[in-house]
Amino acid sequence: MSAQPTPTDERRKRDEVMFWSKVAPQYDDWVSAAFMEQYKAFKAGMEGLVDENDLVLDIATGTGNIALHIAPKVSAIVGIDISEDMIAVAEGKLEASGLENVTFLVEDAYNLPFADGSFDRVVCVNALQTMARPLQAIKEGTRVLRDGGEFISVTYAYGDSGAIEYLKLSRWVIKYGRPKYWSNFKTKDLRGLFEEAGLEIVGSKRLWDKPVVEMVRARKPS
Ligand SMILES: C[S@@+](CC[C@H](N)C(=O)[O-])C[C@H]1O[C@@H](n2cnc3c(N)ncnc32)[C@H](O)[C@@H]1O
Repeated sequence: MSAQPTPTDERRKRDEVMFWSKVAPQYDDWVSAAFMEQYKAFKAGMEGLVDENDLVLDIATGTGNIALHIAPKVSAIVGIDISEDMIAVAEGKLEASGLENVTFLVEDAYNLPFADGSFDRVVCVNALQTMARPLQAIKEGTRVLRDGGEFISVTYAYGDSGAIEYLKLSRWVIKYGRPKYWSNFKTKDLRGLFEEAGLEIVGSKRLWDKPVVEMVRARKPS
């Protein structure tokens, strides 16, 4: 895992928003063109992990891809993202979907406006590796999770992916620019963050090999 700088909160927020707001209008085309198979694997890997009675929080929902996919399977889902532009795209898709159990909010993953224990499940897909403070996002997600609830993360682990995958990532960076923050997680470090946040790992599964994408399931003790 690469060392993270420690910017002021305002600076950190601005830096996190800047890259994602810039890519927001093309984000879904980007996913469709290059990451469709990976996203299919992520969705398949998450199948059966939510319940129809669940109230779910999707941290760093982006354009709402995962939230809108999960919505028909749960009671309600809230998707939060720090980028207004990402949420604007998500809102447009929500309107077109006709779904009535989804709420999108512009919020910071490190400081959520929800009471302790509000959610049955927290999900976070393709985001922890892009965050300035992934541990803080996990701790905050844990705070709003009810006792016995589950945190399901799907995260790129470039620390386990090898030089060729890293080279391919560099090509994306040349094409689209560089997010200000990036962690080259190893899966064991990723699991360690959930344990550090006080969660018990109940599952860890590789959803994609090149690059490595790991789904970690972690439960809040009852
Ligand atoms: C690669 S996108 C993934 C979006 C979505 N989860 C998906 O799988 O399509 C990463 C997202 O993390 C969001 N993000 C980064 N830092 C954040 C923070 N501190 N709080 C909330 N969202 C954040 C970005 O705005 C961006 O939408």
